[in-house]
Amino acid sequence: MQQLLVSKSEPLTGTIPISGSKNGTLPLLAAAMLVEGETIIENVPAIHDVDTMLQMLRAVGIECTFIEPGVLKIDATDISSCQAPYHLVRQMRGSFYVAGPLLGRCGEAHVPLPGGCVIGSRPVDFHIAGFKALGAEVEETYGIMRAQAPRGLHGNRIYLDPRWCSVGATVNLMLAATLAEGTTIIENASYEPEVVACGQFLKQCGAQIDGIGSNMLTIRGVQRLEGIRFSSIPDRIEAGTFMYAATITGGDVLFKNVRPDHMTRVIEHLREAGARVETNETELRVIASNDRPRPVDITTAPYPGFPTDLQPAHGALVARAVGTSVLEETIFDARYNYTDELARMGADIRITGQLAIIKGVPELTGAPVEATDVRAAAALVLAALCAEGQTVIEGAEFLDRGYENFEAKLRAVGAPMVRRNSDNNKELLCLA
Ligand code: EPU
Repeated sequence: MQQLLVSKSEPLTGTIPISGSKNGTLPLLAAAMLVEGETIIENVPAIHDVDTMLQMLRAVGIECTFIEPGVLKIDATDISSCQAPYHLVRQMRGSFYVAGPLLGRCGEAHVPLPGGCVIGSRPVDFHIAGFKALGAEVEETYGIMRAQAPRGLHGNRIYLDPRWCSVGATVNLMLAATLAEGTTIIENASYEPEVVACGQFLKQCGAQIDGIGSNMLTIRGVQRLEGIRFSSIPDRIEAGTFMYAATITGGDVLFKNVRPDHMTRVIEHLREAGARVETNETELRVIASNDRPRPVDITTAPYPGFPTDLQPAHGALVARAVGTSVLEETIFDARYNYTDELARMGADIRITGQLAIIKGVPELTGAPVEATDVRAAAALVLAALCAEGQTVIEGAEFLDRGYENFEAKLRAVGAPMVRRNSDNNKELLCLA
């Protein structure tokens, strides 16, 4: 295990460049599997989840090479296996994305079922129902989804549950339908920016997809895709996390390489909390005050609603608000796992079902706490930046799954933190 030692911070000041999106890049890597040739993807973040996905692609015979930092060449001319290894799916649910392309391209996919997850139950039943609707025969035995479509997939109408507009199911089914025969219509599709980017990538490769950016996708199957060069979108969750860091410390930080238009609801809520947020097309500046934040209620929702991935960051901010905030988590059933740790730091939080009622306190205090997932880890860092004394966060390695150079970026704007090995207290290098 690794731990992060974080002290109370002065207001953060300076510039933070934002990396390519984790949840935007993973679908692109899966989509590149459909191209019988070379694809170049730019703005690929150096994070653990991307590594895991690349291992997955290599495991089925695809060549992946970084030709320069952040620029990846994928050659999927040959796919030699349709079996995804369990140890990779287990590490990251996003690796289930290989199912759609394997099925579409090879007519067969054996992918272990991802199982449980600390933020909620996260089944893949919508993905599987969609594969069946496209004509695949699917068996789920011994923990593995075995899908077969020896005569190829056939377009159909797929109705996703409108309560969720599942990101993962939309991506997987769009990928499966791209090379299917005939027309597929996906109703209640997700239109998160990451899904839209994947659709745009496929379209530029020659796929015929209408309705990208809406909740109804019409996909007319094509026989093959051509490789292209494509850039991953900026990570709105990374940007959001650091915007909360700027606000929590009363800082003044400029963010470069961002898409403010992907972050409307987050910007709105930070302004409500008292921060000034200025934007242009690719930059965003947060100028916060030193006063305690105002309380702000949020409800997480599919895009363009407030993202569930920033709900923990919001909880950390309003833990010191002047008044009570109500958070409603509607996407995942166990995403308040960070709140017990915040309570150890002095936060006043009550959970009832999907709601977290957070009564702001004047001061948080440093404490030993434990992170259980990537966004919980980030939220604990945010809380620690405004807590008196030092906070020791166990599970710092979760940050590496989704944030490129997390500490280096925060330290560059003045946040005091070091990472060390929990076993021997040896300090670990923070790459600039
Ligand atoms: N759901 C089902 N059955 C399915 C699929 C989803 O019941 O077959 C439910 C889920 O249990 C959940 C809801 O639908 O309650 C929404 O899940 P969705 O499929 O939209 O989420 P996901 O694709 O598993 C992606 C991101 C998550 C992000 C969510 C919501 C990736 C790799 N993951 O997950 O990111 O929170 O969408 O926006 O893109 C993170 O980055 O920390 C993270 C968890």
